[in-house]
Amino acid sequence: PSGPLVLGLESSCDETGVGIVRGHTLLANEVASSVDLHVRFGGVVPEVASRAHLSALIPTLERAADTAGIDLADLDGIAVTAGPGLMGALVVGVASAKALAAYLGKPLYGVNHLVGHVAVDLLDHGPLPTPSLALLVSGGHTQLLHVEDIATKITEVGTTIDDAAGEAYDKVARILGLSYPGGPVIDRAAQEGDPTAIRFPRGLTARHDLEKHRFDFSFSGLKTAVARWVEQRRLDGLDVPVPDVAASFQEAVCDVLTAKTIDAAQHYGVDTILLGGGVAANSRLRTLLEQRATDAGIAVRRPRPALCTDNGAMIAAVGAEVIRAGLPPSGMGISAHSGLP
Ligand code: KG4
Ligand code: ZN
Repeated sequence: PSGPLVLGLESSCDETGVGIVRGHTLLANEVASSVDLHVRFGGVVPEVASRAHLSALIPTLERAADTAGIDLADLDGIAVTAGPGLMGALVVGVASAKALAAYLGKPLYGVNHLVGHVAVDLLDHGPLPTPSLALLVSGGHTQLLHVEDIATKITEVGTTIDDAAGEAYDKVARILGLSYPGGPVIDRAAQEGDPTAIRFPRGLTARHDLEKHRFDFSFSGLKTAVARWVEQRRLDGLDVPVPDVAASFQEAVCDVLTAKTIDAAQHYGVDTILLGGGVAANSRLRTLLEQRATDAGIAVRRPRPALCTDNGAMIAAVGAEVIRAGLPPSGMGISAHSGLP
């Protein structure tokens, strides 16, 4: 393999990730998750996540260097998630990356976590065709992005006006008494359910909404509709058919996500859709998007599920693209930005 040898460090939420790439080739991707510490709270506790990053970082780094079989002294650069994410968690990663860069005498690159989710597929399927349209669906974000150049030109064309798709999965899981994180659990429960059992609302798809919010999303009304439906069942003294609710909820989410993504791809005249973010691991989203894209003559690219959720390889991949594009390092002055756009 050829290209810059880059180490990527990710710590924006509850995963401590260290990835190593050479150009478009993945050499190592070690992830330590603190999810078990957060389960009983039903969501990530920022202070707990920060402390977990502190203790996981060095062992994860050592494992990654070991797996890749490289000497850190041979690195061409160090990339780190600068944001968006939890402030304390980001600070641990950025400070550690600075220390490592200073010690090894290597250039340091601050990377946008969201760009990482979009870029990571190049490690699985090669250089990204551009222009392309990315559907980024994670726990904190749901966006449609027009990608002209992964290192230099990405434009947001749509976003959620309330909850993110992953957030909706996590909240509905809680309503159904399922564990955190809700995405994988609902995905599994839905396999046994009927997606047409309950007709849940499709946010921002009415004619008057489309005028102003053609490429935007809304999932908070859907979450409330599920909560009301479940509450009514309980008031009526009836069992809650968890698989049917999960499948019907998932169908509502995936229906809107895929319909708007295809519409945007056609509007912008692109022939490739890039799927990224934790929710991209969802089985129904993947099948429905591929079905509808095929009908529209559009290609879909999606990384393997392990690269969809937070990891360091996606940050390293962006670092390598930034170096390839000839952009200057961020330098030691970088800091964490929890609200990085
Ligand atoms: O990208 P990610 O790992 O972290 C953020 O940057 O937010 O995404 C985490 C989100 C969680 O909300 C989780 O429930 C969701 O991705 N998720 C899924 C699946 N696997 C993870 N959602 C639906 N189906 C899945 N299979
Ligand atoms: Zn993420």
